[in-house]
Amino acid sequence: MSFLYIANWKNFLLPDQELMLAQEYYDGLSNTDSNTHVVVMPSLLTVRSLAALYDTIDVSVGAQNCSAFNNGAYTGEISAQAIAQAGCNYALTGHIERRTIFGETDRFIAQKVEQLVMHNVTPILCISDTHIDSQESLYDTLKRQLELPLAIAHKYQLRELLVAYEPATAIGNGNTAAVETISEVFTLIKKLFTAAPQSTPVLLYGGSVNAKNCHQLKKIPHLGGFLIGSASTTFATFEKIVHSH
Ligand code: PGA
Repeated sequence: MSFLYIANWKNFLLPDQELMLAQEYYDGLSNTDSNTHVVVMPSLLTVRSLAALYDTIDVSVGAQNCSAFNNGAYTGEISAQAIAQAGCNYALTGHIERRTIFGETDRFIAQKVEQLVMHNVTPILCISDTHIDSQESLYDTLKRQLELPLAIAHKYQLRELLVAYEPATAIGNGNTAAVETISEVFTLIKKLFTAAPQSTPVLLYGGSVNAKNCHQLKKIPHLGGFLIGSASTTFATFEKIVHSH
């Protein structure tokens, strides 16, 4: 599988700025080698335009969120089926900002994962090290966040499940976790996959990945890609991350 570079533009940009940045990505990434796959996640306002722009090159478009429900009377929501039709091949679920700011629970996140799987959009399950209570160990925290998504992976016989580990202390502040710590967490995540033995984890790291630290972070054993927030909103920086060895 190619190494994934997922550009999470969050809500940093306005639609016209997203379109300009998308064009820079297009110009700079048209000839990326086959071991690399870029997924751009703009706001839902521009996904259709980006999907049309990238139609002839090997860059995918993803959504940062989707509804936990099918199409229906859910004011303000956008279903997994709708984002699929808009051209999204991937979608984030369980991002820490959704868990902490918007109060999304593990059950609600699992509903989104199931909606995405049902509509052939690849879910990227984000998990973190935030506790529900002070008694919870890191292992239990990871287990709690993985339990329902793994049951869905089992139910739909998914061959792979993309899991992005993002330590809370590393997001948006320039402080990445140590390679050894991330590697230990990856080992715990792999252990938890015994609950869905037919699925292989594709392990991603997110949290302050930038042009300076990416070289070091690429040494994490079994790393399948990066989830990149603020550094992905400047193409020159994102390009350095993609091309670093
Ligand atoms: P960051 O964000 O790269 O700005 O730390 C990562 C994320 O939240 O996905």
